[in-house]
Amino acid sequence: MSSEVKGGLEDVVVSTSAICFIDGQKGRLLYRGFDIDDLVEHSSFEEVVYLLWHGALPSRKELDAHVKVLSATATRKLPPGLIVLLRALPKKTTPMEVLRTGVSALSAFDPDAADNSREATARKAVRLTAQIPTLVAAWERIRRGKPLVAPNPKLSLAANFLAMLRGGAATALEVKTFDVALMLHADHEFNASAFAARVTAATMSDLHSAITSAIGALKGPLHGGANEQVMRMVEQIGAPERAEGWIRKALADKARVMGFGHRVYRVEDPRAKHLRRLALELGQQAGNTRYVEILNTVARVVSQEKHIYPNVDLYSGAAYKSMGIPTDQFTPIFAISRVAGWAAHVMEQHANNRLIRPRAEYTGPTHATYVPIDRR
Ligand code: COA
Repeated sequence: MSSEVKGGLEDVVVSTSAICFIDGQKGRLLYRGFDIDDLVEHSSFEEVVYLLWHGALPSRKELDAHVKVLSATATRKLPPGLIVLLRALPKKTTPMEVLRTGVSALSAFDPDAADNSREATARKAVRLTAQIPTLVAAWERIRRGKPLVAPNPKLSLAANFLAMLRGGAATALEVKTFDVALMLHADHEFNASAFAARVTAATMSDLHSAITSAIGALKGPLHGGANEQVMRMVEQIGAPERAEGWIRKALADKARVMGFGHRVYRVEDPRAKHLRRLALELGQQAGNTRYVEILNTVARVVSQEKHIYPNVDLYSGAAYKSMGIPTDQFTPIFAISRVAGWAAHVMEQHANNRLIRPRAEYTGPTHATYVPIDRR
């Protein structure tokens, strides 16, 4: 075979897509043509989900109908059998393992599980988008031995998740911040988890299988797991005055600094500035801006010394931490949002499918002689 090997599929265009556009040189991100800066200012996560799935902004009537079904208790609540399964898991199971297992198990309870039609996949996408926040919150309560909090159909997805997780109403700034974080994480073109979802969907497998694959890919520290690693770094640094020395030593030791660099962006990730602003506002509200101060110093040094810039994962954890969310829930929160994009990718893949099956350049032996086991 003579094709050139592109390590990590870098810059390989594997398909057309009308969902998401990234300009890595200018630092722009569009969902269905709309700049995320405009969406952050004017939209809501629920509207962004509609946009990703339907390709256009909804009318008031369409949005109301969409929100009604997405927020209904019947859509949000978990089947009792799933709660039994969650309670059977060892308490040390990490939230991402629980999420991967839970989403896979939800297919066993889904009335459309075996139906891959566009209509059935859209119904399953609504259910999964509504159920995943309940699943994430339920595990947090179960592992801490606390009673589960029932979903409230009157609350937005952001407000309801925070209420189910923490067992009390969130402030207006917390809800706004969380809603913006959900909008910013909703899709990102052919990233590793969306690609994993599309590879699975392209075998004409179902939505739950594709999203289970995607969650497995998101879990890794080079993808969604980076936000947790950033917070572990902040905790190690401890105080703003220690940040400069700590990061200079890390760079001298050739460490990979989480929350920086990107396969596509050559400038700062356009999502980072929104999360930086909101993390600072939340920190100010809570009277603790330590996390953002540490991260700003780290960002200044890494940008100057390495010319790599903050990505979406640098500031999200500081915002979540200010809301009292445990660090190992940061990546499941990424999935609460990204399920919208994964579902859009599965529907787009199914609408115009071709099996995704690349080749390898073989480097192993070609004429090995088989020696029976007792003569080796
Ligand atoms: N810290 C230190 N160096 C980094 C870096 C980081 N976060 N990201 C990239 N680099 C350096 C690499 O060491 C490499 O340098 P070299 O050519 O001297 O060896 C160069 O930049 C290219 O890195 P590479 O890993 O080949 O690029 P990639 O496109 O495969 O990597 C990421 C993209 C996202 C995996 C990478 O930037 C990374 O590991 N970032 C940290 C994890 C993270 O925040 N992930 C979330 C992404 S949204």
